[in-house]
Amino acid sequence: MHTPDTPDTPDTPDTPDTPDIPDIPDTQLSTANPFALALASSGISELLAQLDRELIGLAPVKQRIRDIAALLLVDKLRAERGFTAGAPSLHMCFSGNPGTGKTTVALRMAAILHQLGYVRKGHLVAVTRDDLVGQYIGHTAPKTKEVLKKAMGGVLFIDEAYYLYRPENERDYGQEAIEILLQVMENNRDDLVVILAGYKDRMDQFFASNPGMSSRIAHHIDFPDYGVDELAQIADLMLKTMQYRFDDEATRVFSNYLQRRMQQPHFANARSVRNALDRARLRHASRLMQDPLSMADDASLTTITAPDLLASRIFSETGQGMCGKDNISCQQH
Ligand SMILES: Nc1ncnc2c1ncn2[C@@H]1O[C@H](COP(=O)(O)OP(=O)(O)O)[C@@H](O)[C@H]1O
Ligand SMILES: [Mg+2]
Repeated sequence: MHTPDTPDTPDTPDTPDTPDIPDIPDTQLSTANPFALALASSGISELLAQLDRELIGLAPVKQRIRDIAALLLVDKLRAERGFTAGAPSLHMCFSGNPGTGKTTVALRMAAILHQLGYVRKGHLVAVTRDDLVGQYIGHTAPKTKEVLKKAMGGVLFIDEAYYLYRPENERDYGQEAIEILLQVMENNRDDLVVILAGYKDRMDQFFASNPGMSSRIAHHIDFPDYGVDELAQIADLMLKTMQYRFDDEATRVFSNYLQRRMQQPHFANARSVRNALDRARLRHASRLMQDPLSMADDASLTTITAPDLLASRIFSETGQGMCGKDNISCQQH
């Protein structure tokens, strides 16, 4: 089962700024400019623009995606002219706290890789340790292989990948799954991209103990926590897609809400924003039920107001005390 390690490709976490892939006006498209033609026919500009529009912040992440897109595009052109270098290795690690957009970006990445012809189908199969590792001897290999079969032609996203490695248990079957993964990551790298995701410190430890895995990951991408302003923009974007809005006072109250929520345990960046909006929608609906006439009005049906947010327990209880002992209630802010 052992596969020889390939030499380390040096990873450059801080790639120097490269210029964006430009939007090239139709008038400049000519056979004299094959890059422009390839760019236009790939449809990649639109996918990248969509990524910019639909994801707030994440500037370094977006830049890395543009770099990868540029590499694949140039590779395609090179191949057309007979220059070959073999498929570049695109296995990645997305590290960051919960709710920083790792799963969302992985989905976009799958679509981009497909658009650029790197993978055949462009679907994403998201798994955790339990999907790969069996409980009994002989169960792990078929389980892992089945998942790999499903993911072939797309992206295999392994969330909290470090749980595959349990050094405290010598006979842990996770090691078997890792070895199968390593082999497929090497042999099928032109048709399967593996993205490992999880907390940064735990991923770093995992790579330190698994140099074979570390050497196969070409791109390490960090997902930073969002600031209050970014979280507020994420809320606006989510509201817009759900056809709701905050009125002015609600906008102010929500910013205050975020500042408080960020200090609390179990804060999960954009996911906490989504959960807060879901609860605000519930309160908004109950408020309207109490005044049925208001439901005839589009503005009331679509506007979340300050009281819908102020009813959150985060405003009625203060300091750390509210979550001190009872973690379950903390998830209900
Ligand atoms: N930068 C962003 N802009 C807009 N929405 C975001 C952003 N990052 C995350 N989200 C949203 O927040 C939620 C959680 O994101 P997710 O990708 O599941 O995070 P993670 O996988 O890192 O835990 C999703 O609904 C996602 O669409
Ligand atoms: Mg996730």
